[in-house]
Amino acid sequence: MNKTITVLPGDGIGLEVVNAATAVLDKTGELYGHQFEYQFADIGGTSIDKNGTPLPQATIDTCLKSDGVLLGAVGGPKWDNLPGSERPEKGLLGIRKALNLFANLRPVTGHKSLTDSSTLRKEVVDNVDLMIVRELTGGLYFGEPQERREVDGEEAAVDTLQYKKSEIERIVRQAFELAKVRRKKLTSVDKANVLESSRLWRETAEEISEDYPEVELDHVLVDNAAMQLIRDPKQFDVIVTENMFGDILSDEASMLTGSLGMLPSASIGSEVPGLYEPVHGSAPDIAGEGKANPLAAIASSAMMLKYSFGMHEEAAAIDRAVSTVLTDGHRTGDIAKEGETILSTDDMLEKVLEALK
Ligand code: NAD
Ligand code: IPM
Ligand code: MN
Repeated sequence: MNKTITVLPGDGIGLEVVNAATAVLDKTGELYGHQFEYQFADIGGTSIDKNGTPLPQATIDTCLKSDGVLLGAVGGPKWDNLPGSERPEKGLLGIRKALNLFANLRPVTGHKSLTDSSTLRKEVVDNVDLMIVRELTGGLYFGEPQERREVDGEEAAVDTLQYKKSEIERIVRQAFELAKVRRKKLTSVDKANVLESSRLWRETAEEISEDYPEVELDHVLVDNAAMQLIRDPKQFDVIVTENMFGDILSDEASMLTGSLGMLPSASIGSEVPGLYEPVHGSAPDIAGEGKANPLAAIASSAMMLKYSFGMHEEAAAIDRAVSTVLTDGHRTGDIAKEGETILSTDDMLEKVLEALK
């Protein structure tokens, strides 16, 4: 097959990990007889510096014309003092919205050989296998108004948490579909004891559940969910939740695998190219030093093969290669224990390429 992939390296370690992901895609293409053609486009701080905006229209157009989009990360201290609407992060939010990528799938998969890298006890995290389905184009991130205003004669700020019923329906349905082909357990996470949007969310989830009698649905309040994720993560199969809750819970859940540098994601909508992005950010503290763990980005490219291109065997081959390098004891700094040899981003990539053969 021939596929066109838009690559959005973005900022910081985004560039470093995206290079690793495309190298793995190329090798996979070679092995399975596919041709991947890349179009690079600007996003984030790099784009602000070059084009004066974090998301040029040309980037949106390029993405729309491609079969899949691979993103590194955006943001960094250089752009932290810009107004909200001009920040690098606005570029990422903008592309998610422009492509209508309402579902962000964040699988949390424990690798046996990495249980020691987690800060949690081995028996709590070994074989952890859950999927966070994060709503991605609504909620607190996009509600209007979002502004500064005067309240009672003093400076104030407002953000709005709004969900239309149809927005809840489509994300919950997506989560049920995933749960149906996994362990058939869906946990909807909300704050229905306080928030009206959560009460609508819960009601809607109950309604949709009638179409999925084979899937068990339960509701957990987000504060409790944060605690349960650490207490006993293996109780979860699929979690579905509001944009901001999903953002926070997924960084938390990454530590079940040992590192944020391990967590891939797929941002998908309907009838649009999916966008594949590691869960982590631009990591300014290690950017440019060749220290970044490329496995989250590499696993994100495997998700692209699976979800956008239907290349299941090829995706499984990449996942197997990642498992192999971990079992063989290869470690970047974020997952290394004391005394272990630390590989650079490029060395880790080489190990994955070797394991793919
Ligand atoms: P971050 O995810 O960039 O980093 C958090 C910590 O995890 C850092 O110590 C970092 O070194 C480490 N880390 C992250 N990815 C790693 C990897 N692949 N290998 C090894 N270590 C890794 O979060 P932050 O520091 O809060 O944010 C930095 C910038 O990134 C901010 O501008 C933020 O807005 C942005 N950000 C972007 C995205 C995205 O583009 N998807 C996601 C999160 C944060
Ligand atoms: C993520 C990031 C983004 C988010 C930021 C950079 C806008 O944290 O992809 O998880 O909050 O969605
Ligand atoms: Mn995040």
